[in-house]
Amino acid sequence: MNSQENTKKERGTCMYKNVVLVGFMGTGKTSVGKILAKKMGWVFADTDHYVEEKAGAAIPQIFEAEGEQAFRLMETEALREILAGECHVVSTGGGAVLKEENRKLMLAGGLVVALTASEATIVERVRYDVNRPLLKGNVEEKVHILMEARRAAYTFAPLQIDTDIMSAEQIARLIEERLKGPA
Ligand code: S3P
Repeated sequence: MNSQENTKKERGTCMYKNVVLVGFMGTGKTSVGKILAKKMGWVFADTDHYVEEKAGAAIPQIFEAEGEQAFRLMETEALREILAGECHVVSTGGGAVLKEENRKLMLAGGLVVALTASEATIVERVRYDVNRPLLKGNVEEKVHILMEARRAAYTFAPLQIDTDIMSAEQIARLIEERLKGPA
């Protein structure tokens, strides 16, 4: 059996190559992604983590030393490399959707699922996080401004899930049903 047949077998009857989770910071992409990957028997991948591994530095350090532009280039590379494979559940950084190039990679690479949440929920979830350079300072204000600016950024995803009232487990189950069910 060659490696392609092997990969196909892992995918089973699933029509999607991968799952790509998009959404604002704090919408639960990583928590949901890990649970979903386990349920599917797929590999969990995180573009932020991928970038950090390659750069040998944490996101705040990359932003500080090389700037956001450099980080965005690394993020696109991470997406391209991960989505070249199959059977990955990919958690993406909240700003990854801003480049058209990235959106195209995502849509071609699998089922894109947008996780959404209200501004209040986001603020609660990210308030004490020190690993998100774009939220440094007044968290409420930063979240408000960024959410306004990105209001339409996640709408390209064919599946939208409001995470305000659902647990990560429930959300993962919902996506799993979509993956296994009829198109
Ligand atoms: C960013 C979100 C972060 C990370 C970086 C920039 C953004 O990822 O990629 O700090 O622009 O929204 P999470 O959404 O996983 O926090």
